Amino acid sequence: MNAPVIDVDLYADDVLADSREVFARIRDAGPVVWLPRHRMFAMGRFDDVRAALRDDELFTSGHGVAANPLTNALARDTTLNSDGDTHTARRRVLMRSLGAKAIASVEPQLAAEADAVVDELSRRPQFEAVTDFASRLPLSVVATLVGTRRGGDRMLRWAAATFEALGPINGRARRSMGRALSLYLFSRALSPQSVAPGSWAASVFDAHRAGEVTLREARALVIDFVAPALDTTILATTSMLDLLGRTPAVWDEVRADPSLISAAVVEAVRLASPVRGFTRRLAREHEIGGVHLRRGARVAVLFGAANRDETRFPNPDRFDLQRADAAHVGWGNGPHTCVGIHLAKLEMRTLLTAMIPHVERITVGQPVPLRNNTLQGIAQLPARFG
Ligand code: HEM
Repeated sequence: MNAPVIDVDLYADDVLADSREVFARIRDAGPVVWLPRHRMFAMGRFDDVRAALRDDELFTSGHGVAANPLTNALARDTTLNSDGDTHTARRRVLMRSLGAKAIASVEPQLAAEADAVVDELSRRPQFEAVTDFASRLPLSVVATLVGTRRGGDRMLRWAAATFEALGPINGRARRSMGRALSLYLFSRALSPQSVAPGSWAASVFDAHRAGEVTLREARALVIDFVAPALDTTILATTSMLDLLGRTPAVWDEVRADPSLISAAVVEAVRLASPVRGFTRRLAREHEIGGVHLRRGARVAVLFGAANRDETRFPNPDRFDLQRADAAHVGWGNGPHTCVGIHLAKLEMRTLLTAMIPHVERITVGQPVPLRNNTLQGIAQLPARFG
């Protein structure tokens, strides 16, 4: 059987601004569809997406997770773009800085910064949520922990460009290649002397000295700390504020019972799904729902579509902290599950914790949607506390 064909540009400006309708078409058409404009398959149903993410021997990342061969070639030394033992070795190095225990040690710094942010914004008549609220912890604390001695703003521009470059070679990707390349070239010039002692970047050079990874890999691992760490968390945090502003009953619920903070963070990431999707390459031929996929086929695995699958999440657009099974694929699943998950959750949790005693009401205005080949969410959001 041939796959159902969905003749849509998954990366058109209006689809990037709001992918829900296209994602629903992909889910409704079948477990796997063919996107002729991108010459790749796509999966959007929760169970199929999760199964693919768990089966990394079949749905491989080692030939890249972008929708174009150039980015796949440039990113080949990263953790994201690796399989098997190579992946395990690289991931182990990152986990030393990003594992739950390591991250617990930065909680006091994050909490202090979160208190300062909430205190300052509570005094303002209005603020812009992306810059003034959601970007503060990633840009101050996280950028410093990486230790490459580059300002967070520059990292943010590089990271956003890298996510554009993960799409197909369309106008957006072409315009961003220069900046994405800057991050790549910057990482290639890094050395143990150019990074802050004791920083995350220093830890990858330690791993190189210990023979765990090559120098080339060590430099690419710094990209793993920079590229996926900033925009993702900023988008999730902005959406969380937007959702709480639009559903005051949920904010009341969280304030009355702060043990719900973690549930609010997880549910906000489900609805936000900052990473729309990545691709995989099939290691061998395979059949999904009667559709034959040849070896080497590219398949877009759509986290954003899976997280709104109504067969898994009843009333999927609802911000609901009482879901019986709230686990989702916003941070991926299986061997490539986000290594930054503990940090991202902690950043979001500390902001809510800081808000609870001071913020009774969150008022939000009209959001400006982000358009990016790989990321989705809000680019600007006027907001007010109280
Ligand atoms: C809310 C915030 C975040 C979201 C939604 C998010 C999303 C994701 C997703 C969906 C994946 C899976 C990729 C795949 O299966 O191919 C992933 C992997 C990854 N993330 Fe995150 N991420 C976030 C924060 C972070 C942070 C803060 C860091 C680093 C400090 C980070 C570093 C990584 C890395 C290195 C990988 C690759 C892991 C591997 O291949 O084993 N992420 N992330």
